[in-house]
Amino acid sequence: MDIPFSRFLVFVLFLLSCNRFITTEAYDALDPNGNITIKWDIISWTADGYVATVTIHNFQQYRHIQSPGWQLGWTWLKKEVIWDMVGAQATEQGDCSKFKSNLPHCCKKTPTVVDLLPGTPYNKQFNNCCRGGVINSWAQDPANAISSFQISVGQSGTTNKTVRAPRNVTLKAPGPGYSCGPAKNVAPTKFITTDKLRKTQALMTWNMTCTYSQFLARKTPTCCVSLSSFYNQTIVPCPTCSCGCQNSSLAGTCVDPKIASVVRGTSGKNNLEPLLQCTQHMCPIRVHWHVKTSYKEYWRVKVTITNFNFNMNYTQWNLVAQHPNFDNLTQLFSFNYKPLNPYADINDTAMLWGIKFYNDMLSQAGPLGNVQSELLFRKNPSKFTFDKGWAFPRRIYFNGDNCVMPPPDLYPWLPNAAQNLGTSPFMILLITFLSVLILM
Ligand SMILES: *[C@@H]1O[C@H](CO)[C@@H](O)[C@H](O)[C@H]1NC(C)=O
Ligand SMILES: *[C@@H]1O[C@H](CO)[C@@H](O)[C@H](O)[C@H]1NC(C)=O
Ligand SMILES: *[C@@H]1O[C@H](CO)[C@@H](O)[C@H](O)[C@H]1NC(C)=O
Ligand SMILES: *[C@@H]1O[C@H](CO)[C@@H](O)[C@H](O)[C@H]1NC(C)=O
Ligand SMILES: *[C@@H]1O[C@H](CO)[C@@H](O)[C@H](O)[C@H]1NC(C)=O
Ligand SMILES: *[C@@H]1O[C@H](CO)[C@@H](O)[C@H](O)[C@H]1NC(C)=O
Ligand SMILES: *[C@@H]1O[C@H](CO)[C@@H](O)[C@H](O)[C@H]1NC(C)=O
Ligand SMILES: *[C@@H]1O[C@H](CO)[C@@H](O)[C@H](O)[C@H]1NC(C)=O
Ligand SMILES: *[C@@H]1O[C@H](CO)[C@@H](O)[C@H](O)[C@H]1NC(C)=O
Repeated sequence: MDIPFSRFLVFVLFLLSCNRFITTEAYDALDPNGNITIKWDIISWTADGYVATVTIHNFQQYRHIQSPGWQLGWTWLKKEVIWDMVGAQATEQGDCSKFKSNLPHCCKKTPTVVDLLPGTPYNKQFNNCCRGGVINSWAQDPANAISSFQISVGQSGTTNKTVRAPRNVTLKAPGPGYSCGPAKNVAPTKFITTDKLRKTQALMTWNMTCTYSQFLARKTPTCCVSLSSFYNQTIVPCPTCSCGCQNSSLAGTCVDPKIASVVRGTSGKNNLEPLLQCTQHMCPIRVHWHVKTSYKEYWRVKVTITNFNFNMNYTQWNLVAQHPNFDNLTQLFSFNYKPLNPYADINDTAMLWGIKFYNDMLSQAGPLGNVQSELLFRKNPSKFTFDKGWAFPRRIYFNGDNCVMPPPDLYPWLPNAAQNLGTSPFMILLITFLSVLILM
């Protein structure tokens, strides 16, 4: 009786956690304070406006902005124009016909701004600019978690009482997913000069905070998890249709690896539209967790991440995994590691990412489209067990997106754990009842 009941508990916990995943709030349990803050520092007043430094600061532990990069948009409240920009550019000039000579850089009421590309001439560069809109995550590379540019605004007012902050700020990174709050007038930023002997300060500073929601970003998941172990030959695949169904017209198309290169053409650029290899799960990313070996005091896991998308090289990819044994992770091969402690007392969440110039890029689908690592954990005798799927992860995120897990009752079993949850009609009834309760 003991075994079915704990399996049943695991199942209920799973249902509860599912319920947490489909919440629509912009709140991430593993990164509760994560946000992107956009700061406008007015540095000087000009004849008809001001010059400001705009800084996009990614305070998210593991969610980054990858190629083709961020796009920042807003609505001017008055008749502002952008005279000039350094370190970024507006995508459209708009209608500047009111100006006779000396045309502004952009006259649109709702400008959209993008970063410049690497290799921009020096006179158009600014601190932290010109990375094609790529911003790294805070945990992975804080020095590159910033992007900034300078903007000269005209027809805006020239005092702190007459200028108006941009409204309805939108951040695409690169697709949808972020929603930004209104600009707040905050204490002016203080800058320290390079000799560190003097502080200067902005004339006026606005902050706005953008938060991410997987629900806003897209309706379908983008990755799934498969499982296996040395003690059971069963490989538990990703759930069928995790990210879409092969036979559904909505899911778009998938291709056979043999013809993928023909379909893709030779653009050699990341494309937001995936071109998937046909699989039963239809996910661009699969994470495989294999319980490889058990030693007397340690046990070993092999993690493999496979790319099934022919249209994307994932640069600066990262993985977040939750497992109760991460508090005793002893050794890790070929990945970087950082413990994440969203709740100070629980140390069960790890962020893993590739080593620079070695495997920090997960190549497009094909023979090179995977990265692997092995993790060595020290057994804690009071907690450790291979029973009841304990050795498998509780959650996996790839690039900040939650991966679809197989249902816990399918996890590989220890050979002697023969009793099955499904054999008791009473349990089925109880579970059905509870699931209905939870989903209400
Ligand atoms: C944004 O994140 C930073 C760093 O985690 C935090 O200090 C700040 O309070 C957050 N802002 C909001 C509005 O949540
Ligand atoms: C504008 O500047 C004056 C001093 O020049 C200051 O007293 C006031 O608080 C500022 N107002 C705002 C909205 O920043
Ligand atoms: C900002 O968006 C809201 C809601 O979409 C709209 O009502 C408002 O007019 C917009 N503000 C500006 C300045 O465009
Ligand atoms: C404004 O944003 C910056 C980061 O860009 C942050 O350091 C600062 O604390 C923020 N100020 C407020 C009042 O939130
Ligand atoms: C599509 O395939 C899935 C899994 O193979 C199956 O469950 C579903 O019934 C199929 N749908 C249609 C419309 O054929
Ligand atoms: C991915 O990188 C490889 C090698 O650098 C390149 O040949 C390929 O075109 C790239 N694919 C995409 C989709 O960017
Ligand atoms: C969490 O566990 C890891 C691995 O044992 C350890 O390196 C790290 O210091 C721990 N962090 C905390 C806050 O306990
Ligand atoms: C595992 O980690 C916990 C918390 O860091 C520690 O108290 C415990 O002694 C460790 N167990 C072993 C076997 O190292
Ligand atoms: C392996 O695990 C599966 C569940 O995924 C179970 O059906 C099977 O009986 C197990 N095999 C053995 C030899 O216990």
